[in-house]
Amino acid sequence: MRQFEIVSQGIQHAIHNGRFGAGTTLPSERLTAQEYGVSRSTVRRAWRELEATGYLIWLEDSSPIVAHRSEWSRRVERTDVGRLASNLGPTFLGDLMQAAVSHIRYNFEIGTPDPDLLPMADFHHILGELFSSPASEVFGYSPTIGLERVRRAIAEEYLSRRGLCPPIDQILVTAGSLQGLDLLTRLWVRPGDLVVTESPTFAGALHVFRAHGARILGIPMDPFGLRTDLLESQCRSLSPRLIYVQPVAHNPTGITMAPERRQALVEWAMKTGVPIIEDDAYGFLAGPDNPSLMTVNPAAPLVHLNTFSKVLAPGIRVGCVVAPHDVIRQLASLKQLSDLHTGTLSQLVAEGWLRQGQVDRHIQRAQTLYGSRLKTATNLLVRDNTFRLFAEPRQGFYLFVRLPHGMRAQALHQPARDREVLFAVGDPFSPAQDMPDWIRLAVSARPVAQIETGLRRLLRLVHDHAEPGSCGPSEKTKSPPRS
Ligand SMILES: Cc1ncc(COP(=O)(O)O)c(C=O)c1O
Repeated sequence: MRQFEIVSQGIQHAIHNGRFGAGTTLPSERLTAQEYGVSRSTVRRAWRELEATGYLIWLEDSSPIVAHRSEWSRRVERTDVGRLASNLGPTFLGDLMQAAVSHIRYNFEIGTPDPDLLPMADFHHILGELFSSPASEVFGYSPTIGLERVRRAIAEEYLSRRGLCPPIDQILVTAGSLQGLDLLTRLWVRPGDLVVTESPTFAGALHVFRAHGARILGIPMDPFGLRTDLLESQCRSLSPRLIYVQPVAHNPTGITMAPERRQALVEWAMKTGVPIIEDDAYGFLAGPDNPSLMTVNPAAPLVHLNTFSKVLAPGIRVGCVVAPHDVIRQLASLKQLSDLHTGTLSQLVAEGWLRQGQVDRHIQRAQTLYGSRLKTATNLLVRDNTFRLFAEPRQGFYLFVRLPHGMRAQALHQPARDREVLFAVGDPFSPAQDMPDWIRLAVSARPVAQIETGLRRLLRLVHDHAEPGSCGPSEKTKSPPRS
């Protein structure tokens, strides 16, 4: 059992046996750390767990309060999926979403588009037109699969840029791409089934797979992407249910898959029949020579996930799944169980933006901006040589870096926060949960000057915390080739 779990269980026990009644303020972080002989960040982690499972109410700047949680809700037995989901420690994604509204200055935690790229004038115009349309068309219910005109615009104005031209009955509009991934997992993955991913990979995807009881096999990556040479040997006789990949500007490493790897992956899927889920959240950052994997072989068993969260605005919650029509029909039936349709207004805003004829210009600006921010961050970190970079990507939102020997990302998180710096800890991106000394730095939404100042602050903090001799030129690690 990990240390924070021991603390969390101790506090749960104290709540159950009445030592801490509903409404009681818990002893301070310092006292709790002393009681259990752990660090204060471990206490905070335990509190976060307990908050996520409804035991505590915690407003971060003081000790938590025991929640008034009805006894009956503790007695109702959870289903397998409910149990899996609540035992997951849902705090990582929760923390990320919380970081999205944080006012901390050097926020490298959340991967979001630059707010200055939000096309606010276009939104004004689009919303103005929508407000003068019949109210029921804008604010009424709409089909679960997505409005036809919106699916048409997505196909013609967006997916076409990725080399896809699906008929609109092969498109389901979702509330972001994570919903698409959850629906696919519900449809295809039983508890105990094996899912293959890149290692590391998007923490949200791992969260979904684990919540549905999947076993996860992470295939290592190098600066050219997934090690496709290992697929055959590592998956032999394991019958994976699916393989989840991000071929462009991968989260968290920024790596774009090399052409020969794309080819090998698609060939493997064709040979084995294992469906590929292609998450193309950052596909807009690729050049025309790097379209969807579907273009490698249109007959490949492949489902394409896309989203407007990274190219436009995450808060509108519009994404899509592209798959054969029978799969789309089944996914729509599943979506209906909890979400009758993606918000009509959001869909229409996305459509309005797609039809304005500004998509190419917007994407070019985004590519230039994010490319230069990534370059600034990479140059600074390579010159400094305290961290080892997983790769030196030219495009994307992120850098994934390893801390000096003996350091733990989790232990550094709070001290960094105290210095107005946020980063994402690396372990949740690891299928095997064995990357506690890695961190992800999202630089997409920070101007160059903030990147430089924020990273220098972080480096100073790391030097203050590092074991003697573990930082600096003696640690020099060979940088991998640029991806
Ligand atoms: C690779 C990847 N896929 C999906 C998502 C989630 O996107 P959405 O907001 O569309 O659910 C993210 C968000 O960080 C991501 O990085």
